[in-house]
Amino acid sequence: MENEKILMSLDLGSQNIKAMIGAIDHSGTLEVKGMGVVTCSMGNCGISEGIIKNIEMTVRNISQVVNDAQTQYGENIHEMIVGFSGRHIESRNEEGSVVVSGREHEIDEDDIERVKDQAKTKVEPLPESKAVVKQIPRWYSIDGEDRIKEPRGMSGIKLGVDMHIILSNTQQIRNIEKCVMKADLGLKDTVPNLLASSMAVMDKDESELGCLVMDMGAGTTDIAVFMDDALHYSDVLEIGGNIVTRDLATVLKTPKNKAEQLKIKYGTTYVDESLDPDELIEVPAVGGRPPRHIKRENLEEIIRPRLEEIGDLIFDRIRRNNINITRDLPAGIILTGGMARLHGFDRLLEQMFDVQVKIGKPGITGSLTGLDVSQPQFAAAVGLLLYGKNHLNEYEERFIGDLPAVYRKITGYLKRLFSNR
Ligand SMILES: Nc1ncnc2c1ncn2[C@@H]1O[C@H](COP(=O)(O)OP(=O)(O)OP(=O)(O)O)[C@@H](O)[C@H]1O
Ligand SMILES: [Mg+2]
Repeated sequence: MENEKILMSLDLGSQNIKAMIGAIDHSGTLEVKGMGVVTCSMGNCGISEGIIKNIEMTVRNISQVVNDAQTQYGENIHEMIVGFSGRHIESRNEEGSVVVSGREHEIDEDDIERVKDQAKTKVEPLPESKAVVKQIPRWYSIDGEDRIKEPRGMSGIKLGVDMHIILSNTQQIRNIEKCVMKADLGLKDTVPNLLASSMAVMDKDESELGCLVMDMGAGTTDIAVFMDDALHYSDVLEIGGNIVTRDLATVLKTPKNKAEQLKIKYGTTYVDESLDPDELIEVPAVGGRPPRHIKRENLEEIIRPRLEEIGDLIFDRIRRNNINITRDLPAGIILTGGMARLHGFDRLLEQMFDVQVKIGKPGITGSLTGLDVSQPQFAAAVGLLLYGKNHLNEYEERFIGDLPAVYRKITGYLKRLFSNR
């Protein structure tokens, strides 16, 4: 369609690598037009706990999902926005301030960049192993007037910023770049998945009121706390659904792939009225032994304590950052990622934290193309497209910045010409 902008996202998950192609129409509506997913059994994904462990495997999986998404869409896309996770991701809130230098003290883009750079110096010098991946202004202040979301065009002498800075391991970013290059693709952006998932499943009123987004996948649990419509705290735990599968395999003495199937089909943290307490579940055994039969409540007894333990870990991190869930996050928890589909998990968290828990499903559709992207495990891939949509101008400017000066001049002239129309 004319004037459509096309973006491609790649979610480097520990179990599922997902590529998505989205089209943004003139009204800003995003539609998913192509998708590719590779599901890997434990250990052959190339990625575990969010970390790239095997370049060749990762490249192969990237090529496959991108190829599938492109075939569905019908065209090749060369650049993508890549989402990643891992416990190396850490965050800090820092403040910065500068004297406004714009004409008649009107705050312009240059002042904004300078104040962000100034806040960034607070985390520097960084060791060679660490890099800033995202700096997200929470709000600005002008001459002491606080909580201003959009300072451009306003007048003032002193501009301040309160910024959420996300740091990552440099080597991980280099490995992502390497994999993308080896798959003959280009990188538009690298975005922590916790940011992307939140964009896909959280409403503005939830972010204003205060909420915790929790994306539990196979190898990581990404957490993001929003207060006053700003990202307040973000973190990643290197633990996810795989550990539940391992527990089931160990206790029930069944192969891991069978344990995974049992978890998905019968797993629960809550044997409620919707389940038949007497239903017998067949558990395959190893080494040619005959299968056994157990009840749903036996699965609950294995799964529940592990998820309570993970819940406690999260609670602990949040409390250490002076956040009181019931007081500071009235909009409660938004649970997303593949593990959000586990029966009763939302109810368990509700009990543990004494807040409302919503299952976070991406709000956008692929209705025209018949693609169902509304499942929680697609939160990050969809969120990366939404993130890209909000940063289209930045990507276009960067593209122009990469061109030789003479092209930049021509493109700038054309842009001005058309923007005046
Ligand atoms: N219906 C279901 N019931 C229970 N668990 C499920 C269900 N569907 C998926 N899962 C679990 O969700 C996890 C996979 O989710 P997801 O695709 O979000 O992970 P990932 O993005 O690959 O991993 P990560 O984000 O941790 O790197 C697996 O542990 C899987 O067993
Ligand atoms: Mg994930």
